[in-house]
Parts: sequence; structure tokens; C-alpha cells
Amino acid sequence: MKRIAILVSGRGSNFEAIARNISAGRLDAEIACVLSNQPEAAALETANSLGLNAISLPSKGVDTDVYAEQVCAALAPLNVDLICLAGFMRRVGKPLLDQYAMRILNIHPSLLPSFPGLHVQLQALEYGVKFSGCTVHFVDSGLDTGPIVSQAAVPVLDTDDADTLAARILVEEHRIYSDAIALVLGGSFRIDGRRVVAAP
Ligand code: GRF
Repeated sequence: MKRIAILVSGRGSNFEAIARNISAGRLDAEIACVLSNQPEAAALETANSLGLNAISLPSKGVDTDVYAEQVCAALAPLNVDLICLAGFMRRVGKPLLDQYAMRILNIHPSLLPSFPGLHVQLQALEYGVKFSGCTVHFVDSGLDTGPIVSQAAVPVLDTDDADTLAARILVEEHRIYSDAIALVLGGSFRIDGRRVVAAP
């Protein structure tokens, strides 16, 4: 069974969706740990209540690369095949990127390359796009720049504010993240330039 580590910072609804899909037999994987850089993250409580290995590893005041080394050390005994960032609000440092090259995924609530970074639903609204959505991508050293595994589009309605748009995008996030994880864990894809191409 392939083992995933889920890195979170807050609410953890994407983590919960992954856990639900695993329990329901829709995703063949095992959660090796849920690691939060924020000790107060609700996701840690949820992980505990589900009987999962919940790790609090505070990052406040810690240099990005030093923190990455700490994460590597925490994950080392867990035999992790894939790291899934799910609302993890810290940059991933080089030691982690090197050790898990092309084995780290992130979910981002816009159609990349539009609107990388923070507060992206508001950015999309203010820009006036008619569609936004979400993206699962491999993590590289850039900000939301790695090869794209999966995307889903969501219409932006005239009545939307950032919260209503975020809520509709979140429904799609919960759907596509588990599918993308299954694809990557299954290994039936190749990376051609920037393109992640599923094997026939
Ligand atoms: C999601 O919108 C995700 O795309 C973004 O941060 C949010 C995390 O939400 N990276 P949750 O913690 O998974 O509920």
C-alpha cells in the first residue's frame, strides 16, 4: 500500500476529503501522517479523532530550509511515497524538494498559471475572469509553478464574492485531489516538458 504524508496549516477540508475517499475505497493509499506547521490547526484535531498519526511541527521563526530538514527528519521513519500539501501555507525548502523530487503535490484554488500566491479567489474576482477553478500540480522551487497534474474549471458568477467562489472551487478541489493522487501513486504517467501525460 502506498503511503502519503499530508501537510496542512489550518482547516484541513482537503485532507478530510482524501481521508474519506480512502475509507470509502475510492483511493488506494494509507495516510502515514498529517503534519501541521501550525500547532493550532483544526486539521490536527481531525487527524487525531480519526486515529491518524498527527504531527505538530511549528515553523514560526524557523528558516525555510531548516524547516524542510526538520520535515525530512519527521518523515524519514514513515516510508512516505508521496507528500500532499493541502492548505500548507509555507514555502517548501530545498532539502525537502531534493529528497522528494517529483513526489510532492499541491492543490491551489485557481487555474494556474493565473493567480499564483495568496487570496487568489479575490484576485480572480477583481480581475474579472469568467472562469476560475483549481489545480493540482507537482511542487518545484517556484511559487505554484510545477507541472500540472489536474485542473477543474468553475464559472465565476456575477453574484459571487470571494467566499462563495471559494466554496464552489473547494467542492472541485475535494474531487480532483484524490484523483490526482491516485494517478501519481499509480505511476501510469510521464512528464513531457511541463506536460503530465497519462499513460494510455
Ligand atoms: C484550499 O483552498 C487549498 O486549495 C489552498 O488552501 C485551502 C486549504 O483549505 N491551498 P483546507 O485547509 O484544505 O480546507
